[in-house]
Amino acid sequence: MYHKTRDEVAVSLKDSSRIKSEMTEIVRLNPEHPQKEAIEQAAAIIRIGGLVAFPTETVYGLGADAMNERAIQKIFEAKGRPADNPLIVHVNNRSMLDRVAERVTRKAEALIAKFWPGPLTLVLKRRSEVALSVSAGLPTVAVRMPQSKVALELINRAETPIAAPSANRSGRPSPTSAAHVAFDLGGRIEMILDGGTTNIGIESTVLDMTDDVPLLLRPGWITREQIAETTGPVERAKKEEELARSPGTRHRHYSPRARVILIEQDSPQSITKLCKDHIREGVVGFIGHTRVDISDRNFHPVVLENSAARYAHSIYSALRDMDERGVDFIVVEGIGESGEGAAVMDRLRRAASEVL
Ligand code: TXA
Ligand code: MG
Repeated sequence: MYHKTRDEVAVSLKDSSRIKSEMTEIVRLNPEHPQKEAIEQAAAIIRIGGLVAFPTETVYGLGADAMNERAIQKIFEAKGRPADNPLIVHVNNRSMLDRVAERVTRKAEALIAKFWPGPLTLVLKRRSEVALSVSAGLPTVAVRMPQSKVALELINRAETPIAAPSANRSGRPSPTSAAHVAFDLGGRIEMILDGGTTNIGIESTVLDMTDDVPLLLRPGWITREQIAETTGPVERAKKEEELARSPGTRHRHYSPRARVILIEQDSPQSITKLCKDHIREGVVGFIGHTRVDISDRNFHPVVLENSAARYAHSIYSALRDMDERGVDFIVVEGIGESGEGAAVMDRLRRAASEVL
């Protein structure tokens, strides 16, 4: 197998669809039929230990060779990510899973058969070949098979499992477009594969499968109820356990610069009053499903349909937009907790400085 060096990669990047942004190549792709040449360029960067951001069906990931310790270090540096927060490894078929994890239980196999490729990450016993810092010192490794063609093709061409956290600077909302990635990581990484806006918009469900009863570490698009249909009872990680078993969940997350005020339950009248009160103190953004009638140049409303799917798809992008408009306070109206709503509310609570 012939592997290109970084210089050869640079020389062959001459297509006009590529824009240079402070050393980060942004390559536009057809998400349904990703251009082979572009995928090959990206795969070559991964093989020599570089960083490539790519779209998945959930959010954009920042990828590196999961078996290369130095490459993984670069992910932590580019994101400013705390070293104790482990990464998710992405595979493109069932057999690649055996290169990174062992003791895949019957329940895990059943979930894989039902939900892969898709937004379900399984925590399993780690194989020693995986770069140590991928797991941040834990004896386990988190693995998923993403659904997007770009991601699957990239892993296929790189011929290695790809570790990829969300492609944002640590603590910021996850990116759902290539522009979000460029804003956070432009100049810090080699390439961004631009496959348009991601479908789901929030991160995968993370499920620990190392004990007999599956343990939900991070709610996501695949719900606890859906998992239980396949495996029987699923536990929800309690606070202390969560801290020990999924270090990432204890860091503040998904936050724009502005102060986020989450309204879990309230009437339209009091939402209007809350917004008006804050307009006296600064520029206010509102993200919700209720129409708030305030006309003031310091008020920026974004109205979403009252559904988990619409919220998931748009919430990170809306939070980022508010920052670009110089908003000081973002009032966010919550949605119902049933089904996929649980994952949306989990992210909103983590983004919020205040919950009413
Ligand atoms: O949808 C997604 O999951 C996206 C796309 C790119 O695949 N990735 C993503 O990665 O959200 P990240 O790094 O932002 O979140 C990974 C989560 C963190 O909460 C981390 O603590 C947890 O997975 N995690 C990773 N490895 C783990 C392990 N061995 N045990 C427990 N939790 C783990
Ligand atoms: Mg993340």
